[in-house]
Amino acid sequence: MILVTGGAGYIGSHTIVELIAAGHEVVCLDNFSNSNPESVRRIERITGRKLNFVEGDIRDGALLERLLREHAVDAVVHFAALKAVGESVEKPLLYYENNITGTLALLSAMQRVGVSRMVFSSSATVYGTPQALPLTEAHPIGAVNPYGQSKVMVEYILADVCKADPNFSAICLRYFNPIGAHESGLIGEAPTGIPNNLFPFITQVAVGKRAELAVFGNDWDTVDGTGVRDYIHVVDLARGHVKAIDYALKHTGMLAPNLGTGRGTSVLELIHAFERASGRKIAHRIAPRRPGDIGACWADPSMAERVLGWKAQLGIDAMCADGWRWQQMNPNGYEA
Ligand code: NAD
Ligand code: WQD
Repeated sequence: MILVTGGAGYIGSHTIVELIAAGHEVVCLDNFSNSNPESVRRIERITGRKLNFVEGDIRDGALLERLLREHAVDAVVHFAALKAVGESVEKPLLYYENNITGTLALLSAMQRVGVSRMVFSSSATVYGTPQALPLTEAHPIGAVNPYGQSKVMVEYILADVCKADPNFSAICLRYFNPIGAHESGLIGEAPTGIPNNLFPFITQVAVGKRAELAVFGNDWDTVDGTGVRDYIHVVDLARGHVKAIDYALKHTGMLAPNLGTGRGTSVLELIHAFERASGRKIAHRIAPRRPGDIGACWADPSMAERVLGWKAQLGIDAMCADGWRWQQMNPNGYEA
């Protein structure tokens, strides 16, 4: 049995679908602080079965202990966190309390019950400003905002837990830029308010919810001057978690592999790929750089391929086609 925290969210919902497809039993905990109960019903439609779901908070130690015992949990996939970089700068205590205290409560409950396998949602943001590209796992760690710091700190906590408990297994998956949606169009990214991230902003321009995309700078040292990132299909990312769980159940110790494609795509390249996939023009203008932004970032994903036997299969055209299908079918996300 796999406990998935934050499983009603964007990446968690896609991962639950893949875990069930791979034959795992799943129980999901989410407090809906950044998701909608409708996503649980959509997961059930895709998998064709009822989902073990509990509405609750990872900071509730008694609830966590009860869940881990009652469901005889073997491993935890831990997505639950707040993830908005800008908000983390304004409200650092909210982010440290939710992301770190929440993880400590989860780890303490796991220790009390004897559950010693965790796959943790880390992020390429732990690398801070890249000193060399592609980014390998040997790159120095040092986030530049409270959100990224919360990921760095949890990685350090997990490393120390693994040192203290030789039976513990912690896989910290450093995600690059997940975009796209399940091919059914039933689940996808549903940001609340104005999207911070590029891809959901593009899809909302395409569906008519936003008038125009601001391209944050075209004077970076990149192929066309716009920001370059390693976009990865959320389904590829979800399948990486299945591989990570399988690995964690057979090994102990700490691993922190990159989950990316190894390919960089610029903002303008993504806009053009999306226009081809959707047949819609994406109105956009060049705007000043976003404070704190970096020019280019992409992964060396060879560790995940070598150790987990995982490699991204889907390209930017599939990411755009699948993301567009989700947005077209759900112009207001999971809201009615
Ligand atoms: P999301 O916001 O869609 O999902 C997170 C889920 O966790 C939400 O459903 C939210 O309701 C839940 N949650 C938050 N705090 C909780 C708490 N205290 N108790 C219970 N549930 C709680 O985000 P996502 O994009 O699916 O990201 C999932 C994880 O991956 C996060 O840890 C995020 O930091 C990490 N990550 C995301 C990206 C990205 O670009 N989306 C990149 C790198 C890492
Ligand atoms: C991508 C590119 C922007 C919006 C963020 C978080 C990171 C992780 C993934 C959680 C950049 C440009 C964007 C817009 C634009 N999340 N852009 N106009 O910044 O790489 O990473 O999401 O872990 O922590 O920092 O992704 O989608 O915000 O930006 O031109 O309206 O698109 O400058 O070059 P980012 P993003």
